Order: sequence, then C-alpha cells, then structure tokens
Amino acid sequence: MNDDAHQYVIDVHDLNKRFGNKHVVNNVSLQVGRGEIFGFLGPNGSGKTTSIRLMCGLLTPDSGSGTCLGYDIVRESEQIKRNVGYMTQRFSYWEDLTIRENLDFVARIYQMRNRREAVDRSLESLGLQTRANQLTGSLSGGWKQRLALAACMLHEPKLLLLDEPTAGVDPTARRDFWEELHRLAATGISVLVSTHYMDEAERCHKLAYIAYGKMLARGTASEVIESQGLSTWSIHGEHLSKLSEQLRTTPGVDQTVVFGSALHVSGRDHEALETAVRHAVAGTSLRIEPIGTGLEDVFIYLMSHSKDNFGAQS
Ligand SMILES: Nc1ncnc2c1ncn2[C@@H]1O[C@H](COP(=O)(O)OP(=O)(O)OP(=O)(O)O)[C@@H](O)[C@H]1O
Ligand SMILES: [Mg+2]
Repeated sequence: MNDDAHQYVIDVHDLNKRFGNKHVVNNVSLQVGRGEIFGFLGPNGSGKTTSIRLMCGLLTPDSGSGTCLGYDIVRESEQIKRNVGYMTQRFSYWEDLTIRENLDFVARIYQMRNRREAVDRSLESLGLQTRANQLTGSLSGGWKQRLALAACMLHEPKLLLLDEPTAGVDPTARRDFWEELHRLAATGISVLVSTHYMDEAERCHKLAYIAYGKMLARGTASEVIESQGLSTWSIHGEHLSKLSEQLRTTPGVDQTVVFGSALHVSGRDHEALETAVRHAVAGTSLRIEPIGTGLEDVFIYLMSHSKDNFGAQS
C-alpha cells in the first residue's frame, strides 16, 4: 500500500504500550492530515517519544492498530522507517566530520543511489554550500538543528517526525526553523512535532496534549482551549504571588498562575469566578479584566488535573 490512497498520513487507533508495569502510552489515537503541522505537547515522561516511535514502526504496540503513510504500523514497519524523516530527540551527528560528510553519511544509511546530488541539493537548500567542508562541531545550535532537519529530509520524505527539534535553540533560530516547517507544509509535507514551547504550539495547525500516556485534549488551538470550558481574569498590581495563594483556595477558582506582572485566575464556573476575583481585589488598587483563556493556561490546567487523576488511580 502507499500513501496516495489515504486521507491521513498518520491514522492510529487505541495504541497501548507498557514498560514493565508502567502504562506509558494509554489508548492513544491520532490522525494527521496531509500538509498538516501537528504539535505534540505534554510534560516530561508523558509518552510523546514513545508514541512517535510506535507510529514510525520503531516500537511495536502491545495493542492498537493503524497506518503511517498508508503502511500498517505493525506489519509494514520497514517501509515506514524507510519513508519517514525522523529527527530523534537528541539528534546526533559527528561533530568532527564536516557538514558534507555528515549528510553523506545519512545518505548512505538511506542507501541512496544519487548521494552526491542529494547532498549538494541539501547543502544548497540550507544555504551552506560555502561551508560544506566546515566541521559540524563549529556550527551554532540553530544551524545544527537546520542541518539535522536537512539530514532527515535527504531522502525526500512526505512525513517528518520531529522530536523536540528546537530544544535549547534561541528564539530567532527557532522562528527560522518554524518558517521552514511552514514552507515544507505548504508543499504538502506533513509534520508531527513534539515541543515544550508555547509559541511553537500556537504555530501548529492542530495539537494534542498528552499526560501520563493519555491524550487529554486535541484539535486546533482554539478547540483545545474551548474544550476545557475555562474563563480567565487577569489581575495587575503588587504582591501577586500572595494573592495567588489566597485565591487558589477560594471557591470558584480552579487555577491561579503568575505570568510576569499579571496573575491569571481561571475557573469553570464563570459567575463564581467573577465573584471571587471581585471580592479579592475589593478595596485595593489592583486592576482586573476578563481575558481570553490562553493555551498555556489550559495546558497548566490539564497537567495539574491529570496529576490528580493519576494520583487517584494509583
Ligand atoms: N525503553 C524503555 N524502557 C523502560 N521505560 C521507558 C522506555 N522508554 C521510555 N520509558 C519510560 O516511559 C515514560 C515515557 O517516556 P517518553 O520518553 O515517551 O516521554 P516523553 O513525553 O517523550 O518525555 P520528554 O518530554 O522528557 O522527552 C517515561 O517514564 C520513561 O522513563
Ligand atoms: Mg521525549
């Protein structure tokens, strides 16, 4: 089978994976459309990398099924491995090889016949022709990530699986990296990307939030926000962390988070929340205003509630 017959480049259902008695991936289902940038978010150890490895045939699920690029994730894992571009969480290249040598090494792994042309093409698209013979170890963090992206695209995959591709990279380089991802997506390439950065989450067409192996929310950013039914007020002024503690235990308040000079106070019961906020600031010089609940508010909410649920189960 090939991908042409399929609407989704990734279409997996009820994937489960346990390591010992740890249920690391718990009934995860996911669909990624062609040309879509799909963001995978969740706290450390929530099962993002493991889910990615299940989808690209590097790990076999205990149960569940699905296809990646139209290939069965269990029976046709070899084809998947050959056809996806996978950038591992800690992508490694040889620091003491030149940029050209590193790309050539990857081209050999993919057993490409036209290695020389593929490497030249890649260097050109990176704008690195003049630096082809420079040692990779001398590149900046941002350039190393671009090289890593170019390496996993050498064999011209239609699907990229990028596991925290921009971890530790500065904001400008991350922005450039994401512009490149959007250019690729516009040509029909699909991208599943895990990240801990909120600005990157906002740049994805669709998102999934996973915690303790369970997918807690998915959809567009606004669908994910709406799914939790939270209202949020912001409070500006002095001594916000003390107020935050006080409000946290007030009926109607489900969450308080200090964001720089503002305190975000969120709750599901809109009226009770407003009453609590107005009461808390009465007689003070603090300024309040209702604001749209943000993605970060929702992720913090999902994370703290999943912890509670997890605690209750164990
Ligand atoms: N091969 C393995 N054997 C045993 N446990 C594993 C193995 N791989 C992962 N785990 C455990 O599974 C859980 C999920 O790990 P995973 O790497 O998928 O999380 P993650 O969401 O990618 O985290 P991070 O954001 O830190 O990269 C963790 O508790 C991890 O220790
Ligand atoms: Mg990971």
